[in-house]
Amino acid sequence: AVVERCKRRRPGPVYEEDQVPSYELPDPLRGSDGSVVDSPQAWRRRRQEILDLFRTHVYGHRPPGDDPRTRRRFDVVEEDPSAMDGAATLRRVVVRSERADNERPTRTHQFEVTVFLPNAAADPVPVFLLLNIAGPENTDPTRERTSSIWPAEEAVARGYGIAALQVRDLAPDDPARFREGIIQLVEGDLDERPPDAWKALAAWGWGASRAMDYFETDPRVDHTKVAVLGHSRGGKAALWAGAEDERFALVISNESGCGGAALSRRRFGETVAAINRRFPHWFCDNFRRYDDAEHALPVDQHMLIALIAPRAVYVASADEDLWADPRGEFLSLAHASSVYGLWGHSTIGPDDMPPLDTPLRVGPRGYHIRSGDHSLTEVDWNHYMDFADTLWR
Ligand code: GCU
Repeated sequence: AVVERCKRRRPGPVYEEDQVPSYELPDPLRGSDGSVVDSPQAWRRRRQEILDLFRTHVYGHRPPGDDPRTRRRFDVVEEDPSAMDGAATLRRVVVRSERADNERPTRTHQFEVTVFLPNAAADPVPVFLLLNIAGPENTDPTRERTSSIWPAEEAVARGYGIAALQVRDLAPDDPARFREGIIQLVEGDLDERPPDAWKALAAWGWGASRAMDYFETDPRVDHTKVAVLGHSRGGKAALWAGAEDERFALVISNESGCGGAALSRRRFGETVAAINRRFPHWFCDNFRRYDDAEHALPVDQHMLIALIAPRAVYVASADEDLWADPRGEFLSLAHASSVYGLWGHSTIGPDDMPPLDTPLRVGPRGYHIRSGDHSLTEVDWNHYMDFADTLWR
């Protein structure tokens, strides 16, 4: 009874459009000094400003990949040229980092990237990189177990490379242990972390960039055509990875919701306060300032999509996944239109949300809302590969 009474005091999530508060979004094209961006050249400066706002207030600052105190190696620990009955080459690549600070013992970190490359391809291939949030069995290199989350055979049959990393190898998805990965390698055992220090989501995206470092060395990969993709919390990390690292040519958000593609100011489904309460190890501490105060954020998530411009971006929702706010995910894409417009791309308007199971494609931007629940399915993947076909083939 006590629990019931406590629960009732907190208002439940909003799942009705007419309960969405009215809000005003920050204008991606208006700089903090009042200047208005009207060209791709002028956008570079504003882009840096927005990136810094997201680093300070939302995801935290991640370290550069080329810190001279860190030595990095890519070791191919397994290569099988006749994987998938000869259709693919499997490469298991271990990314090893070694950090040597003065006066401190050397620290090491490693994580694995699994890659399948189609043998039929004569030229370097585009690659989909999944930030895998579920167990490693979903991306099993032996292919004894397969999963719709990572349809490696289908990707290879369509001429794509497909890769995966396990986000937990970069930062355990656990409030007490999230530092026991790459963060500890970089920081050691710092007790006091600044309120804009990176946490798990930024660490996962940082791993995507190190996978990209590897792709740049692999002659069978076309590193100018790499898509970074994630589902849900992995989608949040993928979007941020694509914002931080402009080498990703395509960024795919599958049902990333709050702190991903969904507009925070709508407060539909999961809110900033709800996500910070349950997942205090995802965003930097400063993000908590916006619990129940989304209007005070200097950014909203349409500006995260804008950071990907003019590169390709695909946002996907599922109609039963109200917690992730499907309409809010679509609206972020729509409200990034003014930035894509700097390159002459057409506007996606707030009323252009397509019917169920009908992908929308406008220039380098794609969107669909799949019927069904919160998951990454074959249907989603087929839309992503169709979209990549139109971009790259
Ligand atoms: C929770 C969380 C979401 C997240 C999701 C997931 O539902 O509240 O923000 O996207 O888990 O990762 O599946």
